Order: sequence, then C-alpha cells, then structure tokens
Amino acid sequence: MPEWLLSALRTDHAGETGAVWIYRGILRASRDKKVIEFATRHLETEQEHLKLLESALDAANRSRLLPLWRLAGFIIGAVPALIGPSFVWATIEAVETFVVDHYEKQIEILTASEEQANILELLRKCSADEAEHCHEAQSLQNETQSPLTRLWCRTVSLGSLLAVKLSARV
Ligand SMILES: [Fe+2]
Ligand SMILES: [Fe+2]
Repeated sequence: MPEWLLSALRTDHAGETGAVWIYRGILRASRDKKVIEFATRHLETEQEHLKLLESALDAANRSRLLPLWRLAGFIIGAVPALIGPSFVWATIEAVETFVVDHYEKQIEILTASEEQANILELLRKCSADEAEHCHEAQSLQNETQSPLTRLWCRTVSLGSLLAVKLSARV
C-alpha cells in the first residue's frame, strides 16, 4: 500500500473512532427521545465503519493518539446534547460535511489511479453513509442557526481539520 494511503487510512480510522465516541457522548448526555433514537442508529453505523477501517489498517499503523480522539469525540457529542436537539443536529451536520469532503478527496485519487479496489469500495460505502447522516441532520433543522451554533460548528470543523493533520503523522 502506498505511504499516502496508509496515512489517509490512519486519519480515517482516527475519525471513525471519534465518530463512535461522538454518539457515545450524545447518548450519555441527552434525555431527548428523538436525539437518543438518532444517536443510537448512527452509533451502529459508525461502529460498522470503525470495524471496516480496523480490518483495513493493522494496529501498528493506527494513530497513537486514539485516547485523544475518543475524548475529543465524547466532548463534541456531549456538549451539544446538554444544550439541546438543534445543537446536536447542527454539530452532526458540520462533522459529516467535513467527513464526506475528507473521504471524497481520497475516493477521487483512488478512482483515478485504478488501484486498491477494496479500499475504494470501503471508502465509498463510508462516504455514502456519512452523506446520509449529514442530510438527516440537515433536514431536522427547521430554524436558522444562531451565531453561537455557527461559532461552535466552525470550531468543530477546524478541530476536525487539526485532528486529520495530526493523525496523518501520529
Ligand atoms: Fe463513519
Ligand atoms: Fe457518520
């Protein structure tokens, strides 16, 4: 496997670890029925994604900062869940928009190179699921986002970018 792909898969694995913990954070903090149903269903998909990434990337090549990605995910899930459902939907929309873009960049390179067909299929599946998560979170928002929500979402997106940069190396 080329070095860039190994590094990309490390970021994907770190991201799916974070995703699992986002939903764990939500489930720990929320008492809202709709949020709990949403998070339970999404958690199942994220656990499936994490298993797929684990099967594609041996333990030796995974990020050494996994405890940090778990903690960050938990906080990104629990904080909005404490505030309320609309904050949760906005956060998930921001996270998934970032993730789809992240996956699509890798998919584009792999599609062009016509190599690593199994990995390409795996990434396509994950990206399609994330797009669905994103659309669902989008459709649940019926009001315009408050300035505070927008600031939080921008912080989350920036944090995700930083996490990608870090987990690509460590
Ligand atoms: Fe995922
Ligand atoms: Fe997702």
